[in-house]
Amino acid sequence: MPGYEITVDDLRSLFTSPVGIGIAREMEATQSRLYPDELAILTPHARAVRRQQFQMGRLAARRALVDLSLPPVAIGTGSRGEPVWPGGIVGSITHTADVALAAAARDEYCGGIGLDAERLTRAFPERVRRLICLPSEGIWVAVSPETRLPMVFCAKEAVFKAVYPLARLELGFQDVELQWASGSDSFRVLLKRDYPVHKMDFVSLVGKCRSYGDLLIAVVQLPPIRLAASR
Ligand SMILES: CC(C)(COP(=O)(O)OP(=O)(O)OC[C@H]1O[C@@H](n2cnc3c(N)ncnc32)[C@H](O)[C@@H]1OP(=O)(O)O)[C@@H](O)C(=O)NCCC(=O)NCCS
Repeated sequence: MPGYEITVDDLRSLFTSPVGIGIAREMEATQSRLYPDELAILTPHARAVRRQQFQMGRLAARRALVDLSLPPVAIGTGSRGEPVWPGGIVGSITHTADVALAAAARDEYCGGIGLDAERLTRAFPERVRRLICLPSEGIWVAVSPETRLPMVFCAKEAVFKAVYPLARLELGFQDVELQWASGSDSFRVLLKRDYPVHKMDFVSLVGKCRSYGDLLIAVVQLPPIRLAASR
């Protein structure tokens, strides 16, 4: 039995604008078929665990589309591994060994989504803290390293996934500072480097990170592009 329970409503509650949500479990992976374009993404040598996670992820992604009242079409993969959603849709996929989660939104409501899940049973050694945390984050993490270090990791992975498809930025863990609201599961995202001006509004980049049993989930949402451009 997994050490967590997560529902569509749990996941939806982490978002501040309308989203479609999909969840797929390990045992469902083989019951779903991949489209030919998706099968072509998997290399012939892909390991069984990768095939299963990819299949779970695509099933979750299609469920997210259906939740938005859209047809459950093939989801491609871009050159850096990012999911390629139908026109006008943004979204994100994450998988652990036994569950995949996906969220999708119409781009009029959201400029991009980053979704990441980690099992809290995974060990995060001390050297990981030095790799992923800026000094200010290290101070925040030191209060409760067992829960806060995975939170920083999970949140930064979600930032990467939200930002990359739109800006094509290869953000490193030291390029982003998370500022956690006191006593809350919400954070603000600050970029530590100057990037060429692009259409993204980083000022209002915010996210949430919450655990459901031993499943930690981070969500980052970008504001819709039109709003960002008109500020
Ligand atoms: C891409 C990455 C974030 C994936 O995270 P992960 O924890 O290894 O794996 P997850 O199961 O959570 O997510 C995998 C999914 O992420 C999505 N993904 C992969 N590359 C992506 C990218 N460039 N942009 C957005 N989403 C991406 C894919 O949908 C993938 O699943 P799929 O291959 O089945 O379609 C991670 O491997 C990576 O490259 N990180 C870069 C370093 C980083 O995170 N820096 C943080 C700086 S703020």
